[in-house]
Amino acid sequence: MPLNLQENAPAKGVAKKWRAGVLGATGIVGQRLVKLLGGHPWFELTEVAASERSSGRTYAEAVSWHLETPIPEVARDLVVKGIDPVLDCDFVFSALDSSVAGPAEEDFARAGYPVVSNARNHRMDPDVPLLIPEVNAGHLEAIPLQQKNRGYDTGFIVTNPNCSTAGLVLVLKPLADAFGLEKIFVVTLQAISGAGYPGVASMDIQGNVVPFISGEEEKMEAEPQKLLGRWDGARFVDAGLGISAQCNRVPVLDGHLECVSVGLKKIATLAEVREVLQSFEVGAELAALPSVLRHPVIVVDEENRPQPRRDVDAGNGMAAVVGRIRECPLHDVKLTLLSHNLVRGAAGAALLNAELLAARGFLKHRSATSIQEVGERAVR
Ligand SMILES: NC(=O)c1ccc[n+]([C@@H]2O[C@H](COP(=O)([O-])OP(=O)(O)OC[C@H]3O[C@@H](n4cnc5c(N)ncnc54)[C@H](OP(=O)(O)O)[C@@H]3O)[C@@H](O)[C@H]2O)c1
Repeated sequence: MPLNLQENAPAKGVAKKWRAGVLGATGIVGQRLVKLLGGHPWFELTEVAASERSSGRTYAEAVSWHLETPIPEVARDLVVKGIDPVLDCDFVFSALDSSVAGPAEEDFARAGYPVVSNARNHRMDPDVPLLIPEVNAGHLEAIPLQQKNRGYDTGFIVTNPNCSTAGLVLVLKPLADAFGLEKIFVVTLQAISGAGYPGVASMDIQGNVVPFISGEEEKMEAEPQKLLGRWDGARFVDAGLGISAQCNRVPVLDGHLECVSVGLKKIATLAEVREVLQSFEVGAELAALPSVLRHPVIVVDEENRPQPRRDVDAGNGMAAVVGRIRECPLHDVKLTLLSHNLVRGAAGAALLNAELLAARGFLKHRSATSIQEVGERAVR
């Protein structure tokens, strides 16, 4: 049932906040989630979890904090737990390393927790929504089937896309709606924070470009098909696009730049393409979510923009910034886009997904008793 904002509270607040846990809270993405949850109007951070290296210590002791703002007060003294599904929260975000995320997320979903994941493990599962609210909110209709297929009760898994796919698809969506898409050729210049911490060795990336990111091109060629496809009530139907991706790691801290060439189904002028991107606007349901941008695509006209250093924080890091819209001699139109890999491509994306889940009634307030019962069952 959709959230009745007027009944719950004025503006963007709710009567009772949902308690959130963060799995992988000490990592690069986890820290962003902790920061964003610090002052969130709907969610309250109550649990942080990570590996055995961190568990048992306070969050402030365990984390190697990378952000310029201080660790939020609410998080500092939380004791880091392990990733057993017995946390005192209503749902979890997962920013776990992919080596452990797959089974850990299933354990939490089976124990009744909604899991809002950044990890790649379940993105392409046939019953798991891969979600960008502005693009394919309808894919949430797959959740009841997922619960039935897997024997989950109140738990389920929802994922957000790979960090470079997120910005690309946000820009492709209005073009797909207005003109139809045929083929996409994309070359990425990806920031080092996309590799987590400590990530790429400094001796490999200083003054250098590495023309390989393991698994990235495959993800960029597969995930947009699901995101821009449809849920037909029983399965996800791919968009059937031709996509070729080439991915490079560059010595930039945050922000993935992408040079994109697009073949459209209908003929469009550059002015029409620009207008369609600029006027892309979310509907009333999404406009009520705290982290959403009314216009998630920002078009810039300077010939040397977007640039990571100047534009990465546009729209609080939730925008895809597009520039250099011009004719393409091979396809129809080419452009350059930039998005924040840790916000739009990870933590902010997961937060927005959770907000939509809350608004659609998918998040419940779990009682301490139900959490204890699950814990006792897990111990037995
Ligand atoms: N960075 C990005 O731009 C980006 C974008 C989209 C999606 N993602 C995905 O998001 C996830 C997190 O990425 P990241 O960049 O934040 O990585 P990261 O900095 O390496 O952090 C990994 C987190 O996983 C925890 N972890 C590792 N091994 C564990 C284990 N055996 N048991 C429990 N916890 C364990 C770590 O805890 P300790 O600190 O205790 O080791 C840490 O909290 C990955 O799946 C990644 O693919 C990343």
